[in-house]
Amino acid sequence: MKLFDVYPLFDITPVKGQAAYVFDEKGERYLDFYGGHAVISIGHSHPHFTNALKSQIDKMIFYSNSVQNPLQKQLVEKLGKLSGCEDYQLFLTNSGAESNENALKIASFHNNRTKVLSFKNCFHGRTSAAVNITDNPKVVAPINKGFESVMTDFNDIEAAVSVIEKGDCTAVIIEGIQGVGGIHVANEDFLIAIKEACHKTNTVLILDEVQSGFARTGHFFAYQKVKGFEPDIVSMAKGMGNGFPVGGVLIHHKFKPSYGLLGTTFGGNHLACTAALAVLEVIEEESILSNVQKVGAYLLSQLKEINEIKSIRGEGLMLGLDFGKPVADLRKKLVFEAKIFTGSAKDGNTIRLLPPLNIGKQEVDTLIDGLKKCI
Ligand SMILES: Cc1ncc(COP(=O)(O)O)c(C=O)c1O
Repeated sequence: MKLFDVYPLFDITPVKGQAAYVFDEKGERYLDFYGGHAVISIGHSHPHFTNALKSQIDKMIFYSNSVQNPLQKQLVEKLGKLSGCEDYQLFLTNSGAESNENALKIASFHNNRTKVLSFKNCFHGRTSAAVNITDNPKVVAPINKGFESVMTDFNDIEAAVSVIEKGDCTAVIIEGIQGVGGIHVANEDFLIAIKEACHKTNTVLILDEVQSGFARTGHFFAYQKVKGFEPDIVSMAKGMGNGFPVGGVLIHHKFKPSYGLLGTTFGGNHLACTAALAVLEVIEEESILSNVQKVGAYLLSQLKEINEIKSIRGEGLMLGLDFGKPVADLRKKLVFEAKIFTGSAKDGNTIRLLPPLNIGKQEVDTLIDGLKKCI
């Protein structure tokens, strides 16, 4: 048998991870400014995280959602407290796409509509509904086109509001910061305007924080830079489990649950809850939010000194470096010569930086040296 060959691979085989570094089978060390695609939030093999998982493995890995699971209760309490979203309800999933899929279902159950507004350059995942509202026709199969989806320009208030005000959308879905699309930040005015239009028309506002959530931007969720802003639903995954597959949706208290409305076999299993809890404990104990703000500001100041970078977008430790020309060769040089992993973006001119959130100035200096040598 062969693997279904859908991933272009770098010829590197990481076998071990430690903090901000991964090591290949020859012992070569790589600085991880990609975080396995924004997944590694508290660092590779963080001892608190691995010990929590090891001890849970010895007790119980999984039982179904038909019995009490105290770990889910601990998780919901801790997440509510740290995110400031105590008024929301939590439904646990296994991935980002599945979180968005459930978010869209809740919206459609709520207002009985099917049309969705999303934004150019967005990425929401590859499952059936999530991919139909993603801006990449190449990954949308005919079977995915089961409902009407509309896309307007990101940050274009007039265009978005005129679609929402027609009153026939079930939901508007927006990334707090567009990730795959090349790191584009949603303007405060834009978020406020679409929220108001949604409120007027009983349209559900979904904030996709799969990539930008869990402290990555220096706020727990990227949208929280707008004081008092309350989306109807927030979807999460990636950094939530630091590499263990876990996702979730935060659902505003105005949506009432009923038995069987949503469900999953694996979502909220014992190991997944342990992983997410351990991540939250580290975020709290190691003051990760303030580290992201501090190190993010230092990283930005150092990047601004590099003239070849035409623009820098993003917040905290979620940055896009636009070189105004293709960056594929530069990324290769960074990996093979400087031994630094970075992320690509849909536009081809942008390098994405998505390092673990507990890096320090030393890792930033190594990146800056590597960039200067490879440019
Ligand atoms: C903003 C956003 N939403 C959803 C997804 C899909 O997440 P997953 O790959 O876990 O299904 C991604 C993945 O990159 C993402 O960046």
